[in-house]
Amino acid sequence: MVGDLPIRLDPGIRNLTTRVHAALRAAIIDGLLAANQALPSSRALAEQIGINRNAVVAAYEQLQGDGLIVARQGAGTFVAAPLPVSPSQNAASAGRDHAAAPRRAFALGHTETDPGLLRDLSRATSRAIITATPEKLAYGDPRGSAALRREVAAFLAASRGIRCDPACVMIVAGTQSGLRLCMETLLAPGDRVWIEDPGYYAARATLEAIGLQVEPVGVDQEGLIIPDHGDGAPAKAVYVTPSHQFPTGVTMSMRRRVALLDWARKANAWIFEDDYDSEFRYAGPPLTALAGLGSERVIYSGTFTKTLFPSLRLAYLVLPAAIMDRVIAARASHDRFPPRFMQDAVAELMAKGLLARHIRRTKAQYRKARDTVAQALGAAAGAALDIIVPTQGLHMLAYLPEGSDPRMAAAIRHDAAVETRLVSETSMKAQGREGFILGISGHPLDELRDAATRLGRTAARHGAGER
Ligand SMILES: Cc1ncc(COP(=O)(O)O)c(C=O)c1O
Repeated sequence: MVGDLPIRLDPGIRNLTTRVHAALRAAIIDGLLAANQALPSSRALAEQIGINRNAVVAAYEQLQGDGLIVARQGAGTFVAAPLPVSPSQNAASAGRDHAAAPRRAFALGHTETDPGLLRDLSRATSRAIITATPEKLAYGDPRGSAALRREVAAFLAASRGIRCDPACVMIVAGTQSGLRLCMETLLAPGDRVWIEDPGYYAARATLEAIGLQVEPVGVDQEGLIIPDHGDGAPAKAVYVTPSHQFPTGVTMSMRRRVALLDWARKANAWIFEDDYDSEFRYAGPPLTALAGLGSERVIYSGTFTKTLFPSLRLAYLVLPAAIMDRVIAARASHDRFPPRFMQDAVAELMAKGLLARHIRRTKAQYRKARDTVAQALGAAAGAALDIIVPTQGLHMLAYLPEGSDPRMAAAIRHDAAVETRLVSETSMKAQGREGFILGISGHPLDELRDAATRLGRTAARHGAGER
């Protein structure tokens, strides 16, 4: 505060006029000084701050030039009304609402990042910038960094059974971005698209946002239950997570995979395969992706959100040859590609084997996290929760026992004060078993253990499973 004014002068700003201008400007834009509010005279403010009056006069003149304050003859100086900008209180509160879930045990969307890897990434980024050729500073190929596309193609061939040319790989700013790009390019508003139910809420939001008619399709022990398309228009696309269905964790059976590919071929429909966490497989060899079985109708999507971290905003698509040109053209009129040097830096991590090493290490950590949660939850809950220990991925499920009142789940979550999504919160129509979706990655083991114990004890206290 300066006198009665809610302003903060930044001593780091050496020029006094700029210092006063910046402080008043921020207070007005942040809504701390309201429209029409009177400001002290330049003399009074200069005295309060203890600076030369000329500096304040000059700052007031600049603010008048900005349209943020007005001088009224004989009356004084006031904050302008209406303001040329809207106070940012709304923006600030909207920002809070949109932030990711806090990093508390079981929150989804967090990963383990070791400082050594971040240093490697930082060095690789600086190197990419410093050694940039004029071509790399220009617009470039809408598919993204050639180096990263090469690395991704080699990685997919080795680990996911996908034979693809780097020319078919497109780097995108996250799975949602890739999904939106493809669906906007290939489908028209009002077209029908199937999604798994329960399923990935963010994919559903993306599809709805572009005006598609989203049809929830059930999931059983073999994965998505392919509907007989008797009623209405046939679907033009399907969004699936066949390797590790989100959130149930089911792996799509080979029989279903073949049937889904067959459906897509006959219906001339597109399959969007979201292969979001297959790098983290705890038992047995990695499964071949759907795109590895038949690629002409499958758009494959993988992400660095789980292998590195979400704020990187890097993911990749493998596009069928038939749609390549259309998607590239759409991309060129969109964001073109994610920041180039981050892509090149990740390519360097991959080429040096540093990403593979990081995945090996974090996989071991996540396996330990999974076992810790399963043990603590089981010990505390007894028969009150049905815990599914996953063979893949960064989340696990704890269901209420068959026959329990599903409304109990929200009460248990509240009383246990844990950060968990319920299965029903990922459902559109599905009325299957209610349960807790527990994120196990990026949280310290002791926090996971405590939260699991709290959740398990609370479930037992609520008598889940007792009829
Ligand atoms: C099912 C599923 N797909 C994809 C992602 C990753 O999305 P993105 O690449 O946009 O960060 C997640 C992240 O939590 C997910 O749960």
